Amino acid sequence: FDVIELRRSLLNWYAQTGRNLPWRNSSDPYQIWISEIMLQQTQVKTVIPYYQSWLEAFPTIHNLAEADLQTVLKLWQGLGYYARARNLHACAQQIVQQYNGVFPYELEAVLSLPGIGRTTAGGILSSAYNLPISILDGNVKRVLARLIALSVPPGKALKSLWELSDQLVDSNHPREFNQALMDLGATVCTPKTPNCSECPWTLYCQAYLLNLQSQIPMREIS
Ligand code: ADE
Repeated sequence: FDVIELRRSLLNWYAQTGRNLPWRNSSDPYQIWISEIMLQQTQVKTVIPYYQSWLEAFPTIHNLAEADLQTVLKLWQGLGYYARARNLHACAQQIVQQYNGVFPYELEAVLSLPGIGRTTAGGILSSAYNLPISILDGNVKRVLARLIALSVPPGKALKSLWELSDQLVDSNHPREFNQALMDLGATVCTPKTPNCSECPWTLYCQAYLLNLQSQIPMREIS
């Protein structure tokens, strides 16, 4: 397909309807990193107040590195998956020691930090440093599976889906592109009844063109 048109239509849609989320007003890698970890397993509306209190308590990575773990865990209380908070604390100390407090910008370095996988790394590096690193979280898997009318569950086609995400990410606007893709999955290309009438990709979406939106993505079989 026409990658140029896919990028252009998505970015245009995002410029008009993108959500205004607190971390999108920041280009501080520390703040973006915190938001991406909180968003790994928690919904946006739950994350927002935690994100704000966290940054008041620990405005910089140095504040976080020097805090004691009990204080860190207390601020996390209610978000669940406490390993995330322990990893944030450990990462902060590692980044202060190893990278002089500057969040690394090399993918390999980011992936070697505890609790950071490929999607989180892509989310951070694209938002914080505007680097063209792709993402593939649950929402993006669904969007891309529909775009190509994927005939197997996404879990069976991860390599192709990552390649597609790599191919699509706009190296001129990686920050906006990845955020747009997440918004599309969260607000338009939803699991049950997607709002295709508001989608910038209906001209290209194979699931839409074949009227298969309710059947794609296929359920994972275990
Ligand atoms: N989920 C993961 N990262 C996100 C982000 N930056 N904005 C909205 N939802 C997200």
